[in-house]
Amino acid sequence: MKKVLVTGGAGFIGSNFINHILKTRDDYFIVNLDKLTYAGNLENLKEVEDNPNYVFVKGDIINRELLDYLFDKYEINHVINFAAESHVDRSILGSEVFYRTNVVGTAVLLEASRNHNVDKFLQVSTDEVYGSLGATGLFTETTPLSPNSPYSSSKAGADMATLSFNHTYGLPVTITRCSNNYGPLQFPEKLIPLMIINALHNKKLPIYGDGMNVRDWIYVIDHNRAVELALENGGDGEVYNVGASQEMTNIEIVKLILQILGKSEDLIEYVKDRPGHDRRYAIDSSKIQNELGWKPEFRFEDAIVKTVEWYKGNRSWWEGIISGDYLKYYEKQYKKR
Ligand code: NAD
Ligand code: DAU
Repeated sequence: MKKVLVTGGAGFIGSNFINHILKTRDDYFIVNLDKLTYAGNLENLKEVEDNPNYVFVKGDIINRELLDYLFDKYEINHVINFAAESHVDRSILGSEVFYRTNVVGTAVLLEASRNHNVDKFLQVSTDEVYGSLGATGLFTETTPLSPNSPYSSSKAGADMATLSFNHTYGLPVTITRCSNNYGPLQFPEKLIPLMIINALHNKKLPIYGDGMNVRDWIYVIDHNRAVELALENGGDGEVYNVGASQEMTNIEIVKLILQILGKSEDLIEYVKDRPGHDRRYAIDSSKIQNELGWKPEFRFEDAIVKTVEWYKGNRSWWEGIISGDYLKYYEKQYKKR
């Protein structure tokens, strides 16, 4: 039995991971440790809350005493670190909590994992650690790290700490670096859910700059299958890029969402650019494909329709979030920037 500490499991990707694993595997026992920040939501885990192979613990990855208690109590032998502050725009407004959770939090989790001799520590990282591409080329695992935002620099710091624990102590770590995810349960501050929800309300859709920035999109289930494979078969000290080779400009995505919803392009509004906005991300995922046999299963044109349908069918999930004070406060701060 794998006894897995999943951190950040109440967020977008972590909750999709837990729901997927507990549906498809009976050899995983999952302890979900999540601080329940603004981005954590236990609603995301309704379908597993009574599963005997699942336990939720509210807490912070930076709390070493709590970690030691959980490792001992549940005899944890695997760790997947999804927990992070994940939104670039928020990191530009204020970076401290990003370095606290993403760098120091990861370091504390690494120390606890080392002390408890885990069989694998899987760090869930991002393609943003590589910086920005020009019009051509792809990020490979040997592309030098060159992060540009407080968010991406904090994730790069976490990656460096993770690899150093392998080099120095022999801790069996693996890192996945994935491109932009989309799908159900994504917090409506990120491009795709924000645009769907604004369009459903006939609110303006704010496009930063000229709308020609490129992201390489992957459906969240494809990412999570890569995490599962990397946890089980990933080499120690190895990094795997994860991407579905589905590059799109932001304006293309927004027009597609409007088309799926039958809404007018007049809703589009070009706004001030994000400071330091990375121009293009694109991933070469041949290493994980060749070495671990992973390949993406969802095509963008189908999965984006599924995603739009999910948001249309789950209004109560996001209505609670967008009416909350916290999101309103953030929007106000953001407009002042
Ligand atoms: P998210 O913001 O939706 O969820 C983050 C979760 O972490 C939340 O449930 C939050 O409560 C929890 N958390 C935050 N600080 C914590 C702390 N100190 N202790 C315990 N829990 C804490 O993020 P996401 O989009 O699901 O991303 C998950 C991971 O995947 C992150 O590490 C992110 O960097 C990485 N990633 C995300 C994407 C993407 O497109 N969203 C792509 C590549 C990698
Ligand atoms: O590449 C992986 C990363 O993708 C993850 O590591 C991050 O956690 C995740 O948040 C995401 O970062 P991005 O900054 O690429 O995602 P975001 O959804 O914030 O923005 C996607 C693009 O859309 C980006 O070019 C900025 C633009 N954008 C975003 C918002 C929220 C807009 O034009 N308007 C908006 O309102």
